[in-house]
Amino acid sequence: MSEQQVVFTNDICQALADFTSGIGHDKLFILFDETTRQLCLPVLQPFIDGYEAGHAGRKVTHIGIPATDESKTVESLTLVWSGLSANGATRHSLLINVGGGMVTDLGGFAAATFKRGIHFINVATTLLGAVDAAVGGKTGINLGNLKNEVGAFAPADAVLISTRFFETLDQKNLLSGYAEMLKHGLLSEREALAKLLDYDIQHWENATLLPLLEYSVNVKREVVRQDPFEKGLRKALNLGHTFGHAFETFAMKSHQPVLHGYAVAWGLVCELIMSQQQCGFPSEVLYEIAHYVRDNYGPMQFTCDDYDTLIELMRHDKKNEGDAINFTLMESIGQPSLNHSADKEEIGVVLDIYRDLMGI
Ligand SMILES: NC(=O)c1ccc[n+]([C@@H]2O[C@H](COP(=O)([O-])OP(=O)(O)OC[C@H]3O[C@@H](n4cnc5c(N)ncnc54)[C@H](O)[C@@H]3O)[C@@H](O)[C@H]2O)c1
Ligand SMILES: [Zn+2]
Repeated sequence: MSEQQVVFTNDICQALADFTSGIGHDKLFILFDETTRQLCLPVLQPFIDGYEAGHAGRKVTHIGIPATDESKTVESLTLVWSGLSANGATRHSLLINVGGGMVTDLGGFAAATFKRGIHFINVATTLLGAVDAAVGGKTGINLGNLKNEVGAFAPADAVLISTRFFETLDQKNLLSGYAEMLKHGLLSEREALAKLLDYDIQHWENATLLPLLEYSVNVKREVVRQDPFEKGLRKALNLGHTFGHAFETFAMKSHQPVLHGYAVAWGLVCELIMSQQQCGFPSEVLYEIAHYVRDNYGPMQFTCDDYDTLIELMRHDKKNEGDAINFTLMESIGQPSLNHSADKEEIGVVLDIYRDLMGI
């Protein structure tokens, strides 16, 4: 898989002008959801105007899809394919995805499959998109309740990140992205994690967030560079996600959906508890993370009557092989330990300790 260019910029229009002129193409398409159309497209208008003026009036074709993860469906994908096809896209057309992880996952998959693959650029507009979804080459859609069930590895030609877009993000979406940054901090080193735990993300500023963000994206990029197709090391990025996905699906089925990063934050606490039990992960770091998550994300609500349902959801996780439930654990900060499994009793003990730590 070719390596992606990731660019942090304060001048997103100039960056788009540079990249679109560097990628030979006949027609230019721009994809957004209904929220990024309102909040982010106006920021890109100078680029669009400049592009159309500079290409003898050649128009940039807009394609819109509904917002939120419920729209990461084959129906929205069809809208994108049809939008490309009906407007004369060829194998040499270029697609710009403007949005959070939903748009970059779906748009990336549309680009990877349309005429067997066209070039695309991701403009990440959420913190979660910037730090995780837009980077690393995984694309795809949901199938019914099954998250990311259909997809492809397809790196964007470029990923453009500007904190300017985060100005319109609500606190929940900021915190959702920040959970993946905490995960990257755990996978890197003590000092990086300490900086994240000290930082007040709810009152972020460009000058202080940017270095944390760049560092975090680079943690992911380095892992992906070493193992692009998740044969081994890339599984480290699944830390927090076995419990996390179960919490996410449980919440959705209970008609109280939670944002992905919230489920990951709770999943991190559970998987660090398991790490402490199975791999000797230091208790003091576990408590620090648990308190941070409790104070900022609140607790995921469930009782011991829900354990069987949660374990059943973990059994269906696509990271599993055979009957065992697969967990990425940690020996210490920066030392992941892959391919652990746990039985029902062990998972039950983790959930008991989680409820104690989170005070539910
Ligand atoms: N491909 C990967 O490696 C990877 C990794 C992590 C997550 N994901 C996927 O990413 C998705 C979650 O990402 P997300 O949280 O960015 O979701 P999202 O794209 O649904 O964005 C969340 C909400 O914020 C809105 N939004 C986007 N930009 C905004 C802005 N600048 N200001 C205000 N609102 C804005 C969106 O319209 C949406 O309503 C999931 O589908 C998940 O599966 C993919
Ligand atoms: Zn995640």
